[in-house]
Amino acid sequence: MNPLEQLPIPLLQWYHENARVLPWRSAPTPYHVWVSEIMLQQTRVAAVLGYYQRFMEALPTVEDLAAVEEDKLLKLWQGLGYYNRARSLKKAARQIVDGWAGRFPENYEDLLKLAGVGEYTAGAIASIAFGVPVPAVDGNVLRVVARMTGDDGDITRPQTRNRIREGLRAAMPLEAPGDFNQALMELGATVCLPNGAPACGRCPAQGFCQARLQGRTGELPVKPPKAERRVEERTVFLIFHGGRVALRRRADRGLLAGLWEYPNELAPAPCPVEARTLEPGPTGKHIFTHMEWRMTSTAVEAAGPALPEGWVWAGREELRERYAVPNAFRTFGAYVQGRIS
Ligand code: ADE
Repeated sequence: MNPLEQLPIPLLQWYHENARVLPWRSAPTPYHVWVSEIMLQQTRVAAVLGYYQRFMEALPTVEDLAAVEEDKLLKLWQGLGYYNRARSLKKAARQIVDGWAGRFPENYEDLLKLAGVGEYTAGAIASIAFGVPVPAVDGNVLRVVARMTGDDGDITRPQTRNRIREGLRAAMPLEAPGDFNQALMELGATVCLPNGAPACGRCPAQGFCQARLQGRTGELPVKPPKAERRVEERTVFLIFHGGRVALRRRADRGLLAGLWEYPNELAPAPCPVEARTLEPGPTGKHIFTHMEWRMTSTAVEAAGPALPEGWVWAGREELRERYAVPNAFRTFGAYVQGRIS
């Protein structure tokens, strides 16, 4: 028997007793569900909460999002990372406003046509906002189901993912697809934890979980080893003049596209402006999915206000309100704040 068929009743019971109170759950409109699910990709609930609240205050409707300026959007997203998620949100909002008269498509296939909406997000919106019985399979759910069913297929392979999705489709309670999907995510986030550390004693599936019964929770799910990260040594120039710091906008494509940064280059690099003084500044590193930056900074007192084309001077207010500088440069934040006004 598919162990998943025993799952709905104890899982839903557990969910009703343990679900976290989250702002997008109290009013699960398609807009709320969509924005929260995009934010929650690659980002923990605790980190998303403040961003979500601010986002909804600034852009309460899909029409507001469709019309927002890119800089304002990136500022709202600053620190969440994976900034293409924000750009896709706006693109999809345009699609909804222009192509669907501002009303969300209600079925899974149409949701899939929206920018940035893949199988997981389409499943989450369809099930949570519209009650459509489709699975929503993210990394948490893959882990939970691979363990529950004792599936030792590589969860990065489409074949394994399809098997997991089909198992869930067969077990889906038709009266509560949204709660069922969210309960699986919640179980993965709070009980069926990764890295061999599940809290099986608190799990509603402990009686029929195959990994638990076979003593294999530490081995499942199976994933291929991670590819090694490329390491880049970078020199960052913290350039000051008259109580302001120099920023430049990153290219429209590629890593951190369109965000603002302290000018930086692969090390070693010459100072890009005429300097009155140069001294060593803070160092730091930042880990991206595929790359690591090891950064050494040079603090520069510029000889004058001239900057290369497209660069800007930013004071405290502008740094706070206007320019989205990604977390990669956070290590320089306190130092920069101390030298600008
Ligand atoms: N992670 C992603 N989406 C979620 C949701 N709706 N509930 C709990 N955790 C999540």
